[in-house]
Amino acid sequence: MNKKIAIFASVIGLMALQACDEGRLYEQETVIAPEGRTVTVKARLTGIASWPDPSMYVVVAGFNDDSDYALINKSVPAPSEEGGEVTVQLSGIKEQVTRVELCVINRLRKHIVSFYTIDEAQLAASNEIEVDAGTLNVGMYHTIQERVFNSTCVNCHGAATSAAAGLYLTAEKSHAAIVGVPSKKLEGMNIVEPGDAAKSALYEALSTDVTITNEWHYNHTAEVVDDGILAMIRQWITHGAKND
Ligand code: HEC
Repeated sequence: MNKKIAIFASVIGLMALQACDEGRLYEQETVIAPEGRTVTVKARLTGIASWPDPSMYVVVAGFNDDSDYALINKSVPAPSEEGGEVTVQLSGIKEQVTRVELCVINRLRKHIVSFYTIDEAQLAASNEIEVDAGTLNVGMYHTIQERVFNSTCVNCHGAATSAAAGLYLTAEKSHAAIVGVPSKKLEGMNIVEPGDAAKSALYEALSTDVTITNEWHYNHTAEVVDDGILAMIRQWITHGAKND
């Protein structure tokens, strides 16, 4: 009986030793020959908490130019105070990764929107890259304003002295002009109904051709062709349509 216990104990002991050994070996290996490259991104960030994690979240991620899906990614933590500095280290970046971004992905790891890109040439320069992405406002509404409203919508909605449908989508005015404001064009709907994209005229206009069933002159569906951007607008509405 005692003998059996002794054998048992030594087997456990051996296993433990082996486990330690493996641990040490592994550590040595990563020090001497790290698998893949390492990118360290430093940035001062505002607005990170506005993303509805885990539906969409801010990451440092590696992509191949042939695909919209991240091959490797690591969440970016919110800084301890708005505008504070965060550092994210992404290691094990394999050969097939052709760019690394500070960006937003969804729960399927699909690319939604990018804030900073390290391209193939920069990646090829070294196995250990450190970049400062600067000061970035990654807030969800700020992103919609910059990437959607400012880039196309303001051409008709507010850059001039008049705005189509009296709707101003310029930075200072847009939020107050859409959230909880009754639509002039789709009866019974608000332009944006916080929490309900299906009841929001803005989402309706961008996702379906409302000229067919309503008296609209302008079909808006060609305005936002990127389905990731459309999904971002939907998520923003679903998660309360906040102004950050
Ligand atoms: C080429 C001009 C043009 C562009 C660009 C444009 N719109 Fe419009 N928009 C209009 C017109 C015109 C109307 C009035 C409805 C109609 O007659 O088609 C309108 C109406 C709207 C309405 C309805 C307002 C209400 O009271 O219900 C919303 C919301 C809207 N646009 C959002 C957008 C957004 C968001 C973008 C950018 C992604 C955009 N529009 C880009 C011309 C434009």
